[in-house]
Parts: sequence; C-alpha cells; structure tokens
Amino acid sequence: MGYNVAVDGPAGAGKSTIAKLVAKEKGYIYVDTGAMYRGLAIHFLKKGISPEDKEAVAKACIDADVSIVYENGVQQVYLNGENITGMLRTEEVGNMASKTSAIPAVREKLLELQKTLAREKDVIMDGRDIGTNILPNADVKIYLTASVETRAKRRYDELASKGESCDFDEIARDIKERDERDMTREIAPLKKAEDAILVDSSDMTIDEVVSKICSFCN
Ligand code: DC
Repeated sequence: MGYNVAVDGPAGAGKSTIAKLVAKEKGYIYVDTGAMYRGLAIHFLKKGISPEDKEAVAKACIDADVSIVYENGVQQVYLNGENITGMLRTEEVGNMASKTSAIPAVREKLLELQKTLAREKDVIMDGRDIGTNILPNADVKIYLTASVETRAKRRYDELASKGESCDFDEIARDIKERDERDMTREIAPLKKAEDAILVDSSDMTIDEVVSKICSFCN
C-alpha cells in the first residue's frame, strides 16, 4: 500500500497547483482524477453525445479506454491510444466532465484505475470524492476551498494571461453552477470527509498552502 494523500474541493480552489507542488516537495506522484473525467468527456464530445442522454453516455463508456502514464513525472492522459493531455483544460470539456461525472457508468469506469494507482504508489490524488469514496483510508485528507470570488478571480487572471477573452461575472456564474452540480449529484457528491482537514486558501499564498499541507504529510 502506498502513502496516500487525498485532496478534494470545488473547481478553482487550486487543488492541482497545490497538489503538484506538494508532490514535488514530498516525492509523491500527483494523480489528477479530474483529468480522467475530462478525458472521458472528450470521448463523448467527439461522438456528439449529449450529457443528458445517460444511456448513450453509458454505452459510449464501453469503447473508451482512458489510461494514465507518467512522463518525466508529469501525468499524461491517453484516450484510445491518443495523448489528449493538451485538450483537457477548456471550459467546454470541464462542463461536459462535470455533467457526465454524475452518471454511474462514468464513475465506475474510473474507480478501479484510481484505486490501483493509490495501491501501487505514494500519491497525492485530487478530485471531488477522493477522501469520501476512492481512498477512505487515506493517510491524510485535505478539503481545499476558497470563496467563489477568489476562485473566479484566479480563473479570470489565468485566461487573461493566455490572452483569451473572458467575462468575470460569467466565470463566477459558471463556478457556482459547477459547485451546485458537483455537490448535489446523487453518487459521490463533493463534500468534506469528516476526518478531512479544512484549508481555505482565499487569503493564503500558494507557498503558504503548500507548506501547511506538507506539515501534515510524512
Ligand atoms: O477538477 P476538474 O475541474 O478537472 O474536474 C472536472 C469535473 O470532473 C468536475 O466538475 C467534476 C468531475 N470530477 C468528479 O466528479 N470526481 C473527481 N474525483 C474529479 C472530478
């Protein structure tokens, strides 16, 4: 059994930025489970399937092979043999992943992949249901959050720095909708595990959050 750190929290809380840095500091492998849901979302988008058509989504899971490899310590996501890592982080893919991740067949498809990675390696794994569902016996559980305004501002700055046009109110609205969907779905909703440590990063720097989390880890 590997040493397991679970990090859950809403979209834009900084989970992946923080988890990557903790992984580097502690020598763990960083497992981004959102990227796996995004990988499947790309499969559904390519097939032109509506996220409302649950049967079609479940059926499409059968011919989707999502796999993870690590190249120079960086997670790469493959969909049916194609490296799709560069396509994962768009709003369209994120929204599709948020909608389709509520469908049981989608979660079942990724459950074993996530559990196996944690069994075999020392990992810091981020997502929505890691501490509550995937790794209930994780050595450390963190619930990382931040206010909607802070998260929207971070997303706005990220898009603006890439020269992409964006609207703050639209981003904030999108984040609230995504929170609502991720927290109220029937299976494996986003919630803080009872034994998770709550970290609110609204008024903290990245370095402060990383050192706080590292202080709880071996
Ligand atoms: O963390 P992210 O934004 O890359 O995740 C995209 C979507 O995938 C998110 O809105 C909900 C879903 N997800 C999930 O249901 N369970 C996880 N463990 C990780 C992500």
